[in-house]
Amino acid sequence: MNLDLSKIPSHVAIIMDGNGRWAKAQGKNRLFGHKTGVKAVQKIVEESARLGIENLTLYAFSTENWKRPEKEVTILMTLLVSSLKKELKQMTENNILFNTIGDLSKLPGPVQKELKYTIEQTQNNSGMKLTLALNYGGKEELTQAFKEIAHKVKNNIISPENVDETIINKHLYTQNLPDVDLLIRTSGEERISNFLLWKIAYAELYFTEILWPEFNESHLHLAIHDYQKRERRFGKTSEQLNA
Ligand code: IPE
Ligand code: IPE
Ligand code: MG
Repeated sequence: MNLDLSKIPSHVAIIMDGNGRWAKAQGKNRLFGHKTGVKAVQKIVEESARLGIENLTLYAFSTENWKRPEKEVTILMTLLVSSLKKELKQMTENNILFNTIGDLSKLPGPVQKELKYTIEQTQNNSGMKLTLALNYGGKEELTQAFKEIAHKVKNNIISPENVDETIINKHLYTQNLPDVDLLIRTSGEERISNFLLWKIAYAELYFTEILWPEFNESHLHLAIHDYQKRERRFGKTSEQLNA
């Protein structure tokens, strides 16, 4: 399939879903699903950088995922640390700048430490920005933003009349990211699950039945190909766009 390289979405976000169902279908435990899911992450990160996607944001752990069995949460955290350690070299080679969104203060100490280290080590890279959403929730992101703004209003740093989209954006975890162009969710579920509420306001949505551990480069191409066929009108008419 031929992708139009002049129309590569600049911000792609992915809800990586289906690790558990994939493992179950193989007669394996959920850990095996998450481990295989990490391999898919590696492939997709590398291919996204190769395609010239400027921002790739991956949903790795939601504010709601704490409700899972404690053992699974521990496994996910352990897997995160080992993957960060393993992937630093690849990120450096691919000139990838690593970042996170979400409230990291609730994550286990060793996870926070490894994240901090990876962020520091990749900060001068000038290629694709890879953002991992960890203990991230769209509602939590907006809540902490509004709280900060409220404090600033109270202390006369901002006047209520001046609160606008730019100011709200400046208080988000995603402040340095552009709006999402393409949001992909794997595993057949068609919902947002509290991901990036503000930045997906005008995103093109793409749902696929493929379970995350099986999502590969060609599936990513299919999603981008689909995106490239769409007309993004942003409220205007088709005639206006083609004038
Ligand atoms: C996505 O796969 C990984 C995380 C949410 C951490 P799931 O673990 O949600 O897999 P399913 O939805 O149970 O198949
Ligand atoms: C969304 O997947 C969160 C991540 C992919 C990290 P879930 O599997 O947790 O979503 P729901 O609960 O089925 O909506
Ligand atoms: Mg799931």
